Amino acid sequence: MSKDAIWAKLQEMLNSGIDDATKANNMDELNHVKKQYLGKKGAVQAQMRYMKELNSAEKPEFGAKINEIKASLEKAFFDAEQALQDMALSCDLSRKLDLTLPGRRKSAGTEHPLRKVQREIENIFLQMGFEIARGPQAEWDYFNFEALNFPPDHPARDMQDTLVLKNGALLRTHTSPVQIRTMLSYEPPIRIIAPGAVYRRDDDITHSPLFHQIEGLHIEKGLHLGHLKGILQLFAQRLFGCHTQIRLRPSFFPFTEPSVEIDIGCIFCKQAGCRICKQSGWIEILGAGMVDPKVLEACHIDAEEWTGWAFGIGIERVAMLLHGISDIRLFFESDRRFLSNFA
Ligand code: PHE
Repeated sequence: MSKDAIWAKLQEMLNSGIDDATKANNMDELNHVKKQYLGKKGAVQAQMRYMKELNSAEKPEFGAKINEIKASLEKAFFDAEQALQDMALSCDLSRKLDLTLPGRRKSAGTEHPLRKVQREIENIFLQMGFEIARGPQAEWDYFNFEALNFPPDHPARDMQDTLVLKNGALLRTHTSPVQIRTMLSYEPPIRIIAPGAVYRRDDDITHSPLFHQIEGLHIEKGLHLGHLKGILQLFAQRLFGCHTQIRLRPSFFPFTEPSVEIDIGCIFCKQAGCRICKQSGWIEILGAGMVDPKVLEACHIDAEEWTGWAFGIGIERVAMLLHGISDIRLFFESDRRFLSNFA
């Protein structure tokens, strides 16, 4: 065979090697092609048979040509390998389901701090034999004011200004209407607590237009102010700690007589005087009193036979004291950084 014919054979082999490399669909196929051409028994090696057909001047030229072809094939295989890798990567990236992403952690919700404190208070009274009662948040004037002995134009109504609905009902300003509803529905003796939302025209760092109260009502024969004091003293100790002191201050509510405001000894300064108790050593926590005979009678209960006492406590206020929270709005913002403290 002439030198030109041999050179043409070599070129033909190179072309088919490049062709085979670009046709390989994966690394296995490509490795197979590599072996076919560059392996010990491969196509390049097989070309050496032409060596003997060449004269001594052509032999070195042939060697150089073979080396050049090997280099070209190696380059072609390397490029093919890169192309396969690029393809694999872009397939990977275009996948809709990426199994390498970390999973989404599902965090369980936690009970709201107000609900927690509500339950704590409820449990204390449930253990003392009280039951839970409920009433509507949209309430009639009669239950919210009139039956509770607020005369129609009494200024105490203004202090509890609220929203009036189209049908004439109002958003209750306290949980005391549940007292009336319970007394109208059940015969005494009665021992209930009534938790729930109430509404007032109040909005600042310690007051919210929507807040929560727990009402207590105890009707039995022979109850007097000593029972009120004894039970609320026990309650305060269970809630704030066994060394908690209470004191009764005279106050006024239209539906109780006498009426009192109950303070606890400041739990922050142990009554030494601090910013929170305004240096007095005492913190007001609830309003209470003996149920006014007029209220009992409005509910058809004989005030000669039965007496009772009642109280109303603000849940936000207690939660703020128990947890040292200074801004009431935190309860209503649903900020997980705040809420997660009560997990
Ligand atoms: N309803 C009163 C208030 O909201 C609290 C209270 C309840 C007082 C029961 C006495 C008896 O301020």
